[in-house]
Amino acid sequence: MTDPTQDEWQRVDAYFAATLVGPDPALEAAVADQRAAGLPAIEVAPVNGKLLHLLARISGARRVLEIGTLGAYSTIWLARGIPEDGRVVTIEAEPHNAEIARANLDRAGVGDKVEIRVGFGAEVLPTLVEDEPFDLVFIDADKESNTIYIDWAAKLGHPGTVVVVDNVGRAGRVADPAAMEPNVIGTQRGLELLGRDPRFDATALQTLDAKGWDGVAIAVVV
Ligand code: DHB
Ligand code: MG
Repeated sequence: MTDPTQDEWQRVDAYFAATLVGPDPALEAAVADQRAAGLPAIEVAPVNGKLLHLLARISGARRVLEIGTLGAYSTIWLARGIPEDGRVVTIEAEPHNAEIARANLDRAGVGDKVEIRVGFGAEVLPTLVEDEPFDLVFIDADKESNTIYIDWAAKLGHPGTVVVVDNVGRAGRVADPAAMEPNVIGTQRGLELLGRDPRFDATALQTLDAKGWDGVAIAVVV
């Protein structure tokens, strides 16, 4: 088997997206507006957004927690995957991002299902302990804090809660035991926690999509 060239895997990703995800005016407008507002182009790829959406549906999630809203691209996908009486609580550290996210959610018609909590994850998460537990947790914020977020996912979840962690491949950097970058080290520590902590059962997949070479970890709270 030959290694794929960048041209080839980009063509396959575009084919998957065109065949299985398709055009989506609300999501395309959300991306356009967040670009225009100067937000970084780091929202999940369309095939990955669809994966989050399907995981929500497959797991029957009613309550979803997202850490790292950005412009709400992934939030829209998640909100569409839960029932009308479901709720997405999404945490965003940047007030400007939260404003863009709110407009994107409302335009996509899911604004009523989504509560944006502005603040740092480590500060907002403890305020959620009184809430009903979450059925799915998507972690996509500062990678340095992944162990903190993964720990909270177990505390705020229940047996069966699905935990998804974005960006676990980091263009291959994750497999370098001598990595010095704080975001890579945070990603490694997060994966190690998922691997050894008896509260989780987990795996991870490499991804080659519109965002390049990365990966996604998927776990269940046992
Ligand atoms: C970065 C963060 C992300 O969540 C992502 O999906 C890609 C890149 C970053 O901070 O570089
Ligand atoms: Mg990400």
